[in-house]
Amino acid sequence: MAEPRNRYSAVSLVLHWGIAVLILVQILLITAHEATEGPLSREFVQIHKSVGLGILLLTLVRIGWRVANRPLPPPATMRPWEKLLATVTHRLFYVALIVLPLTGWAASSATGREIVFFGLFDWPLLPIGGGRDAARALMDVHELAVKALYGLLFLHVVGALKHQFLDRDDVLHRMIPLIPRRP
Ligand code: HEM
Ligand code: HEM
Repeated sequence: MAEPRNRYSAVSLVLHWGIAVLILVQILLITAHEATEGPLSREFVQIHKSVGLGILLLTLVRIGWRVANRPLPPPATMRPWEKLLATVTHRLFYVALIVLPLTGWAASSATGREIVFFGLFDWPLLPIGGGRDAARALMDVHELAVKALYGLLFLHVVGALKHQFLDRDDVLHRMIPLIPRRP
């Protein structure tokens, strides 16, 4: 009989860690933007927009992949509230990874600021108006979603550490195959 799967597929691993690294890149780009001035500073925002739209595309692929490939079942030792918290955190991650790029895209569209996708082509703007006021309101939601993302990441990492060091199950091995399975 085939052994049950004990880690995620290569596609799931690449999507999970690829998007995680791109989120880190986004934060570094904004930090660089805030630390500089002039054309260079604006260039960092341009790259931030392109990377953010890349995250949007990858997140849509990821959701499609997840619908087609059910995730591994949670360990039987997890209590119902732990399972619920994990599910809610994971779902809200997907919501944040859609809301963040959408609000950024919509804010640029509201003021008619062009988005040049990695210098390659003009990314289409959404057909919305509203000017600066609308853009400001959308960027408020962008910033709120950033805070939510940080909160989710905190819960997620605390949960991961709990699995590894308190529950001592193989949940981290599933997503980080470099971590050996427990005997
Ligand atoms: C998952 C994708 C994204 C993440 C994680 C992200 C994250 C961030 C963060 C952390 C900030 C700083 C917020 C603050 O000052 O408190 C920011 C600002 C901003 N983001 Fe994003 N963002 C994403 C996607 C996008 C996209 C797709 C666009 C536009 C197409 C965009 C446009 C902007 C703009 C214009 C700012 C303000 C920059 C300034 O201070 O002038 N973002 N974003
Ligand atoms: C911003 C960065 C991250 C995001 C957006 C993120 C998002 C997610 C999401 C949405 C899932 C659920 C997959 C699904 O069932 O659909 C997941 C699973 C997982 N993540 Fe992350 N993650 C991030 C960083 C991390 C880090 C830093 C760690 C390790 C310390 C980690 C460890 C895991 C593990 C072990 C799982 C598998 C849980 C299971 O098997 O049920 N993640 N992540």
